[in-house]
Amino acid sequence: MAGIRLPEDSDVSQAARQVTAVDLISDDDRSITADSWSIKSDYGSTLDDEQRQADAAEALSSAAYRAPSDYSSDKDEPDEEAASSMLGFQSYWDAAYAEELANFREHGRTGEVWFGPDVMENMATWTKNVFLEISQHNLPNHVDSSNCLPAGQPDKYLSGWSILDVGTGNGLLLQELSKLGFSDLTGTDYSEAAVDLARSLAYRDGFPNINFLVDDILDTKLDRQFQLVTDKGTLDAIGLHPDGPIKRIIYWDSLSGLVASGGLVVITSCNSTKDELIQEVAAFNQRRIGGSREPDVVGSDAVFEYVDHIRTYPTLMFGGSVGSRVATVAFLRN
Ligand SMILES: C[S@@+](CC[C@H](N)C(=O)[O-])C[C@H]1O[C@@H](n2cnc3c(N)ncnc32)[C@H](O)[C@@H]1O
Repeated sequence: MAGIRLPEDSDVSQAARQVTAVDLISDDDRSITADSWSIKSDYGSTLDDEQRQADAAEALSSAAYRAPSDYSSDKDEPDEEAASSMLGFQSYWDAAYAEELANFREHGRTGEVWFGPDVMENMATWTKNVFLEISQHNLPNHVDSSNCLPAGQPDKYLSGWSILDVGTGNGLLLQELSKLGFSDLTGTDYSEAAVDLARSLAYRDGFPNINFLVDDILDTKLDRQFQLVTDKGTLDAIGLHPDGPIKRIIYWDSLSGLVASGGLVVITSCNSTKDELIQEVAAFNQRRIGGSREPDVVGSDAVFEYVDHIRTYPTLMFGGSVGSRVATVAFLRN
């Protein structure tokens, strides 16, 4: 799968600091209204949830094949071909979640489960296991030693660890993590409608303890760190904005401030392969230390270090090569 490449500039953290979210093209400047693209016609009420999920995932992943130069700019009305880049705009998500919220209120519908329930459950269970492994010092680094596990009593300790899900959407991943024993759970999304939906679903489903906040990961107001940060489809969406490459750099910079030292980031993507995510992180590490070292900065110099990835997703054959449509990768925050 082809991903959107990072620019070749030499100092990412400098670039990320210089180019603040305010400097970037805003949704308002672009004047693209997601409503005008008629989400309903693509995700109409005649389609069941599974079909909606498949269509939306298709849109998200096929958009990854577009070169940045293919994106249109400053258009009032996106043409049909440019529709997939709408997923990079907040106006798209505001409209999508407003509709999902209305569906929830009228029909009790849960709405989109991005990449499907299997991927979500897989991601949650796998994340818990990696987290436990790290805590038991089976991996090179580990979360804060005060949370170290005495062997044989793993689940009891999960409640002590803080989790942040960025771009949480309907917040179902946090519900899944709650079922597995985590209890300090926070979900953020820049779309207020998504946060309203996530809260409503959490109350309905018996998870009133999950916190949901409106927050833009690229300009975060959060003033605490978390031991685990999850992302399912958010970096993909961010990368689909016309300023995607620079926004991805800001994303990693922001994330590095939100994950506690020794904590984990777990990302699920359908736009980037495991190797592309690892390369992106390597480039970020390199730029953070000043761009003077080789790309594969490892050890204590690296901000993030690859830990593991899910190997059990179904694979498919495309263009002569076999790959998985979805990648989930864990990185350790040094
Ligand atoms: C593909 S959806 C995935 C939603 C959710 N993680 C899930 O798996 O159902 C992408 C999500 O990222 C959110 N998002 C995109 N850019 C964001 C940003 N800069 N800050 C916070 N949330 C963002 C969108 O509002 C949307 O909820």
